[in-house]
Amino acid sequence: MTSPSVTWPRRTRRLVLRPYRAEDAGRLLQIRNHPDVWRWLLRTEVDPAAFTQAWADGVADPLDHPAVVELDGAVIGWCSIEVQDGMGQDKAGPSPRSEGLLGYIFDTAYAGHGYAKEAAASMVAAAFDELGLHRVTAGCFADNTPSWKIMESLGMRREQYGVEDSWHAELGWLDGYTYAILDREWAARTETAPTAVAAVR
Ligand SMILES: CC(C)(COP(=O)(O)OP(=O)(O)OC[C@H]1O[C@@H](n2cnc3c(N)ncnc32)[C@H](O)[C@@H]1OP(=O)(O)O)[C@@H](O)C(=O)NCCC(=O)NCCS
Repeated sequence: MTSPSVTWPRRTRRLVLRPYRAEDAGRLLQIRNHPDVWRWLLRTEVDPAAFTQAWADGVADPLDHPAVVELDGAVIGWCSIEVQDGMGQDKAGPSPRSEGLLGYIFDTAYAGHGYAKEAAASMVAAAFDELGLHRVTAGCFADNTPSWKIMESLGMRREQYGVEDSWHAELGWLDGYTYAILDREWAARTETAPTAVAAVR
């Protein structure tokens, strides 16, 4: 059985979300290895060759759905849904591949304009409408305010507040959050606020 896929490109009000191309490698690495970006990531600086290889490998991975995000033709970041197995018993039931892990990384030079929120909303829509997932989850350090604000703006629920569950290389043990939203919650949100959701899609 073939895995469902995302139809590219996805267009939002201001952005284009599209698949990775080999010529993106340098720009994505420049964004990824900026200290303001890796400050709140679990993996700090990345090895350039391994990072580029991971992008190239991701193109053929049916469970990985990364989108390079462009603003007026310039790459400003990326946003992804990684399909994962949800928890469940082993008797016949829905596909175990029921959850999507949402991730986003943007050039901080473009911070605070709502671009990450806009791109993340489009990927959550893709997770439910195209990939047919049941839940979308995401996690962050509790001190990463822009990150959890994005999740809350998407209607995601804070499901876990982990006390000192996350190690930070400079700051030691820090608190962490996990958020989630269900397919039916996203659908209800789209029905009740179609204009608001369309605005960020
Ligand atoms: C997290 C990140 C994607 C946010 O990108 P962004 O383009 O600034 O996000 P947006 O402009 O869509 O803003 C999201 C929210 O954060 C708020 N925000 C942005 N910068 C902020 C700051 N420095 N302090 C507090 N709030 C901030 C915005 O006002 C907005 O909140 P609102 O919904 O209440 O208006 C970006 O900073 C980033 O890539 N950081 C490094 C990587 C990272 O942390 N990724 C997430 C890992 S969990």
